[in-house]
Amino acid sequence: MQNKTARNFFKPLAVGAPEPYRELPTTLERMIHFFPPQVEKMRAKVPDIAKQVDVILGNLEDAIPADDKEQARAGLIEVAQATDFGNTGLWVRINCLNSPWGLDDITELMAAIGSKLDVIMLPKVEGAWDIHYLDQLLAQLEAKHNIKKPVLIHAILETAEGVNNVQDIAAASPRMHGMSLGPADLAASRGMKTTRVGGGHPFYGMLADPEEGVSERNFVQQDPWHYTLVKMVDACMACGIKPFYGPFGDFSDDEACRAQFRNAFLLGCVGAWSLHPKQIAIAREVFSPDPDEVAFAKRIIEGMPDGTGAVMIDGKMQDDATWKQAKVIVDLARLVEEKGV
Ligand code: GLV
Ligand code: MG
Repeated sequence: MQNKTARNFFKPLAVGAPEPYRELPTTLERMIHFFPPQVEKMRAKVPDIAKQVDVILGNLEDAIPADDKEQARAGLIEVAQATDFGNTGLWVRINCLNSPWGLDDITELMAAIGSKLDVIMLPKVEGAWDIHYLDQLLAQLEAKHNIKKPVLIHAILETAEGVNNVQDIAAASPRMHGMSLGPADLAASRGMKTTRVGGGHPFYGMLADPEEGVSERNFVQQDPWHYTLVKMVDACMACGIKPFYGPFGDFSDDEACRAQFRNAFLLGCVGAWSLHPKQIAIAREVFSPDPDEVAFAKRIIEGMPDGTGAVMIDGKMQDDATWKQAKVIVDLARLVEEKGV
């Protein structure tokens, strides 16, 4: 792919648009909580839920019926204008760029609540071209509406072509915030033989070799999302943006949700979506660092004040690399403490 020159990469894309960020703002985003803004009862709960979550997201895309799309957009504008979100992020998932609603989602939201919106989640991103289009349009709208802070773009990785182009998507613009794995659409796009929203499958796993004298062979389920998730984490981290696991659709299986979120956390993701209120607590638990790990990480940092050299702690070797891992955990713990929930 032809890239912009280093000097041009950070130039605003419209006269009067704010400067793009060089580093992303440091924010806690353990859970992105989805709500359907066309439902009045749900809108009424927003101020309360916003206090319990790191990010609240008005969903305009899939799961919103076609006949309710405009009402959902209007409902989001209404509740966003009326609510003080404090240090909770306000995001929207717009309809995709080739849908009948995508353009109006972008233009109407930017006109009405562009200064309040932190992040636009863009579904079904196929390549850098989708990001470039939205990037340019957002810069024009920021300039037109005198918006002082750039609205960031978060891509959903949920098509086979998107996965092929994940590195180009991550690197497409300084407006990129991060990416979420979208296992439901990705399964459809890839022709996977499943009917689920994330999680494992009872037939996807490994059967142990036969052993003489042992009649039962162990079958262990594997994580079908492992390859894509790690590919996405590498693309994101290489570009200084944030990776997330997306939705877990089986609300009757909290343990499986926790296990899926935990795999994502251990492999580098910073958060996941919550589609049901009970997933808020699961994400909070999983994506907050473990107190024992925090205590150990603090000991590493104290043992190596300038981050170099090597020390032994409880018989385990620590060096510059473990110091950096420790720093990730300690920084996260500080953000959690500041958030207070
Ligand atoms: C999310 O949008 C998904 O398709 O999994
Ligand atoms: Mg999807």
